[in-house]
Amino acid sequence: MQTQLTSSLNIEFPLIMAPMFLVSNKAMVVAGMQNGIAATFPSLNYRNEGELEMLLDELNEEKSKLSVKGTYGINLIVQKTNPLYEKHLKICVEKKVPFYITSLGNPKQVIEQAHSYGGKVFCDVTNIEHAQKCYDLGCDGFIAVGQGAGGHAGPNTLQVLISSLHHHFPDKMVIAAGGIANGEGILSMLALGAAGVSMGTRFIATQEAGVSDAYKKAIVDSKMNDIVLTEKISGTPCTIINTPFAKKIGYKQNWFERMLSNNSTTKKYFKMWVQLSGMKKLEQSVKPGNYQTLWCAGQSVELIGDIKSVKEIIDRLKTETTKAFENLKSVVA
Ligand SMILES: Cc1cc2nc3c(=O)[nH]c(=O)nc-3n(C[C@H](O)[C@H](O)[C@H](O)COP(=O)(O)O)c2cc1C
Repeated sequence: MQTQLTSSLNIEFPLIMAPMFLVSNKAMVVAGMQNGIAATFPSLNYRNEGELEMLLDELNEEKSKLSVKGTYGINLIVQKTNPLYEKHLKICVEKKVPFYITSLGNPKQVIEQAHSYGGKVFCDVTNIEHAQKCYDLGCDGFIAVGQGAGGHAGPNTLQVLISSLHHHFPDKMVIAAGGIANGEGILSMLALGAAGVSMGTRFIATQEAGVSDAYKKAIVDSKMNDIVLTEKISGTPCTIINTPFAKKIGYKQNWFERMLSNNSTTKKYFKMWVQLSGMKKLEQSVKPGNYQTLWCAGQSVELIGDIKSVKEIIDRLKTETTKAFENLKSVVA
């Protein structure tokens, strides 16, 4: 299947395995590449000294051995509150990471440095204002993050967001993210004019994912109405499974926390503190045998009924997409 995304990244199937904090790992990324897609991970999953450099060497070696067209990319949180941003960017540029996904903040430095060696940059966007900034900086494409996505979901439906991005920026490729977990979903996004799809939640329920079995089981057992938004992880609304633990810690910041995050002197430090403590809670929750169950996931849990290997999931997505296309042709004919 050829789209603008497959030719831009030199991959076989127009699918990105989305970056997931504390979930994405080397095994998932290698399996993704070996099965013809673009697999990514957040640089923040590798925070210890020397870890990221070593992983990038290993991934570059795996990529050089591939017999299919697959690749990997890295997600950088381009925000002042990410203390490792500049250090990680420098390492990625040295190792010539094939492509980047930027989220939050200003992607200027990433775009300039990636383009210096031919790397590509796709920016997560949830609205036209942010997309305009990324466009002006020369990004290679947008990842349109819509309602119900895992993580920092956008407020808009993908039907409206993707069409609007095409209208404003007809020369830029758009990749759809949020609520897609099967071939019908992929085909519907291609029909909207997306060059491909970025999928996160589906890949949590994989044998390779580095999280507890309880978390994977919760992905399989949960339904779309079990997904709620919380401000307790990063200060920005984030989708989680509504477990008893999530209910206990609540979903909204209180008036004092709000004041600290709006005050110009305390803003930066308070946000850093919220993000650090949110990270700690998440970190506890993904480990086996922990009573904390703060589990990030999107509404596509509704469509997920099994824990499989990354290969099995990609194979199934390819078959489903082709079948959905055949079905559509018979309906339209
Ligand atoms: C557990 C989890 C962690 C995530 N962590 C990140 C992250 O670190 N950086 C990022 O840009 N997006 C992150 N996301 C968002 C995904 O990259 C992607 O946009 C989203 O999963 C797409 O929606 P879907 O989950 O409905 O497929 C995360 C999503 C999930 C489910």
